[in-house]
Amino acid sequence: MKIAVFGTGYVGLVTAVGLANTGKKVICIDNDLEKVEKIRKGISPIYEPGLDALLLKNLERLAITSNAADAITASDVIIIAVGTPFDGNRIDLSYIRQAAREIGEAIKNTDDYKVVVVKSTVVPDTTMGVVRPIVLEHSGKQEEEVGFCMNPEFLREGNAVEDFLDPDRIVLGVSSPEVEAMMREVYDGYRDSAILITNPTTAEMIKYTANSFLALTISFSNEIARICENLPGVDSEEVFNGVIHDKRFSPIIGKERITPQLASYLRAGVGFGGSCFPKDVKALRSFSKGLKVDGKLLDGLLHINETQLEHVFSMGLKKFSGKARRIAVLGTAFKPNTDDVRESPGVKLAQMALGQGIQVAVQDYVALSNTKALLGAQVEYYDDPLEAVEGADIVFVTTIWPQYLDISEEDFEKHMPEQAIMVDTRSHFKERKAKKWRHRIGVGQPLPVNGEVEYSLRNNGYGIH
Ligand SMILES: NC(=O)c1ccc[n+]([C@@H]2O[C@H](COP(=O)([O-])OP(=O)(O)OC[C@H]3O[C@@H](n4cnc5c(N)ncnc54)[C@H](O)[C@@H]3O)[C@@H](O)[C@H]2O)c1
Repeated sequence: MKIAVFGTGYVGLVTAVGLANTGKKVICIDNDLEKVEKIRKGISPIYEPGLDALLLKNLERLAITSNAADAITASDVIIIAVGTPFDGNRIDLSYIRQAAREIGEAIKNTDDYKVVVVKSTVVPDTTMGVVRPIVLEHSGKQEEEVGFCMNPEFLREGNAVEDFLDPDRIVLGVSSPEVEAMMREVYDGYRDSAILITNPTTAEMIKYTANSFLALTISFSNEIARICENLPGVDSEEVFNGVIHDKRFSPIIGKERITPQLASYLRAGVGFGGSCFPKDVKALRSFSKGLKVDGKLLDGLLHINETQLEHVFSMGLKKFSGKARRIAVLGTAFKPNTDDVRESPGVKLAQMALGQGIQVAVQDYVALSNTKALLGAQVEYYDDPLEAVEGADIVFVTTIWPQYLDISEEDFEKHMPEQAIMVDTRSHFKERKAKKWRHRIGVGQPLPVNGEVEYSLRNNGYGIH
């Protein structure tokens, strides 16, 4: 079986490499010639742990081209993994439409049965109501001559390779039993994964529901955290810990309590960013408006997310009566282990500060070049966090890079000015609620009293056993 993958971004490239790793012949298509050149040489154009090595390992089963027609004609299954941005009002399907047109044109003169798979995140009925008619119109084929599948991707950036190689579920929304059979073959190297067969529209809805649910949990946590910040002695970490111990949440099996990964979403923070949650929730909300569904919950979670960043920013500024001279942002990747800065809270905080005439220093381990593309010469860039914090009134720790934990509070304090504060937006340093660490305030934790940063109303309090 030969597979073509349209788009070699975070999803397309990982999919192509992952499938090649199970022995499939895969040809990638991208119209970004720089990416094509890099991949051809075995270099990943994106930072994703493990991707470079896996790409090199599978290079002989992988091809890449900017000539979509040849790749499509030579393949049995064509996977669309192009971007689906939010245009401010609704999901922008122009890349999807373009890919569907190219597929239609390319298969016009072939006799083989092809399956067109939508892996991009798209609103319900896009696969059957948008992609299928375009492919059929441009190919001149009958319905039974082409199959369609919606196969949402659940990988998490930063863990993308691991998630793709060992998925928790593979959702296949298929247009016919024949398509199901071909898609099972595509994934026959993933014997241990649950394969859920459904129709394309349900598959589309599964993806939006999954992301909206996770986003909802984050916004819920942030609203609870804001309440806690107003309650002397109440730390939201302790509150969430008490909730997580509900056995419906973390069941006790044998004598062991199983804590779900979802528990990590029940935590105060700086709000969700990245290329998926913000745009997917907005796309679902705009889609639901079209259905005249009252969407107060989705509106609310988006509102909390948008205002959380301002909230965190003002937490820092409060100590300086709203007027800081310089800030440092530690972490511009929207999460650790990725170089993706799309909708990144760190970048947005930097922009907020620039808008108020505040000098900005930013630091990241892998995302600086993408950050430069967004922020240009307006900010100073640092590889070393301790250099970035020099002279800053406020240090925002926005990405929970594990490397920060190797820096002692003494080192931070040595490099930060005497009056500076650190806003630990994601409780990265929660284990270090040492009294001596004067500079840190945590989102969702009791706020400084009388303008003085005061920590650790409880030093080692949480942990309900
Ligand atoms: N990034 C994630 O973590 C993630 C996770 C799950 C689902 N998704 C969804 O997957 C889709 C892709 O996301 P991404 O982050 O990989 O996007 P991306 O922007 O990183 O990659 C898209 C790629 O498609 C290429 N492309 C666009 N139009 C093309 C065309 N006509 N011909 C050839 N190449 C073309 C672009 O050059 C780019 O390399 C989106 O719908 C996204 O919502 C993303």
